[in-house]
Amino acid sequence: MIQRTFGLIKPDAVAAGHTGAIISRIEKEGFKIVGMKKMKISRAQAEVFYGVHKARPFYEELVSFITSGPVVALALEKENAIQAWRDLMGATNPAQAAEGTLRKLFAKSIGENAVHGSDPAETAPFEIVLFFPEIC
Ligand code: CMP
Repeated sequence: MIQRTFGLIKPDAVAAGHTGAIISRIEKEGFKIVGMKKMKISRAQAEVFYGVHKARPFYEELVSFITSGPVVALALEKENAIQAWRDLMGATNPAQAAEGTLRKLFAKSIGENAVHGSDPAETAPFEIVLFFPEIC
């Protein structure tokens, strides 16, 4: 099934100059980039985006990090894109990420973990609409 998912290159990876390498890998893995936007996320947008994590002890850290510098938002299309993008990113904690995954290659810590991707649940359409209302 051809699917769309949402991806984000986070402030740590953008600041470290990994944007090009990550985009190149995304294309090499056969994803079609249907939306791409370099932007700064506002506090209000971050609170909506990370709303599901509001009760978590690291919520404030999460919001302040994601708004700390430019990010690259991506809408990606591929066969089973949601799982494929999660596989390419690797485990949330880079210490547990498999060799060759983006988080193994580029992430510093569980909080500053280079990339974000939608869950296998229903978050992909929600996140795509939030960042790319014009392509929906
Ligand atoms: P992301 O995929 O953007 O979605 C939620 C984020 O919470 C996750 O990536 C991690 O960066 C972050 N996160 C998860 N667990 C922790 C934790 N224990 N401490 C700090 N951040 C965390």
